[in-house]
Amino acid sequence: METKILKGKEGITLGAELIKRGEIVAFPTETVYGLGADATDESATKKIFLAKGRPQDNPLIVHLADVSEIDDVCYDDGRARELLEAFAPGPLTVILKKKDIIPSSVTAGRDTLAVRIPAHGDALSLISASRPLAAPSANTSTRPSPTSASAVYEDMNGKIPLIIDGGEANIGIESTILDLTGKKPVILRPGYVTEEDLKPFFSSVETFSGTVKDAPRAPGMKYRHYAPLCELVISASPCETKKLYKDALKRGLDPVVLALGENISAYAGLKLINMGNNDKEVARNLYSSFRLGERAGNLIIAEELKGSGLGFSVMNRMRKAATSTSKPNGEGK
Ligand code: TXA
Ligand code: MG
Repeated sequence: METKILKGKEGITLGAELIKRGEIVAFPTETVYGLGADATDESATKKIFLAKGRPQDNPLIVHLADVSEIDDVCYDDGRARELLEAFAPGPLTVILKKKDIIPSSVTAGRDTLAVRIPAHGDALSLISASRPLAAPSANTSTRPSPTSASAVYEDMNGKIPLIIDGGEANIGIESTILDLTGKKPVILRPGYVTEEDLKPFFSSVETFSGTVKDAPRAPGMKYRHYAPLCELVISASPCETKKLYKDALKRGLDPVVLALGENISAYAGLKLINMGNNDKEVARNLYSSFRLGERAGNLIIAEELKGSGLGFSVMNRMRKAATSTSKPNGEGK
């Protein structure tokens, strides 16, 4: 199959036609690119799992164009509407009880549904011109999420008919997922919207940190994620970075450092990719740095962000992508 890359109106018009015909289309959002299908069409949504190689038990997020559409697809006791009126369009996904209009292929048999309203003009236009879109990130399963049309093309060339090119994703990591199905709201996946941002709306908010076993609350968490093709180790300091680099050379490896901007000057002569000068820049560049890094060498040494908020969310992704924090030859993968 030929995979077209189109921008603007041309992309949206063809994209909407394809979605209404039961095909799948990659589209930009403010977080990462999504791979969308009509959320009410069971056979269309199954094509997403096939193109990504995604396990069938990992449910999809449904993307809507407006807060008023929540009631079409799930049951809200008012908490979701209040939250989304504050944060949507934006990088916050809420989980609610689902309505029957959404087939079980979308929710992997669960009676709950994840919904969000993406803050990207192309995404909103595509949804408005077609259907609510069930969409995971547009990467092959286990790979880093794509933050540009070219990264989608790397993974999906020949597998999907269209990529709508809406430029580089502004945020760069996936939405915060908040489970509202219990009494207490629980963050299942940290993101750009932080626990601190959500606290004013509830008497308490927790971030899920349990080990993920048989029936995980966020099923996707049990799989390896966001991973570059080569080994990735996390370094806690410039001193450790230099040591890991030296050790890697001794082992005959070809290391590359994904460095924090503030440390760059300490690394004369090392192969480097600058991830950025603050949490926002590092989040935006994280996945493209993984993809650049795997091309530049065969061991990625990624520098850790300290602190809470967005830095904590970035580290959640980096830890899932890492093969090890201390064994650069891949033991313990
Ligand atoms: O920013 C984002 O959220 C991007 C863009 C494209 O919108 N989407 C995204 O989708 O990251 P995906 O499929 O890569 O990640 C969705 C996560 C998975 O870990 C999945 O298990 C979880 O959401 N999820 C979906 N529905 C759920 C549900 N009903 N209960 C618990 N977890 C759910
Ligand atoms: Mg994903």
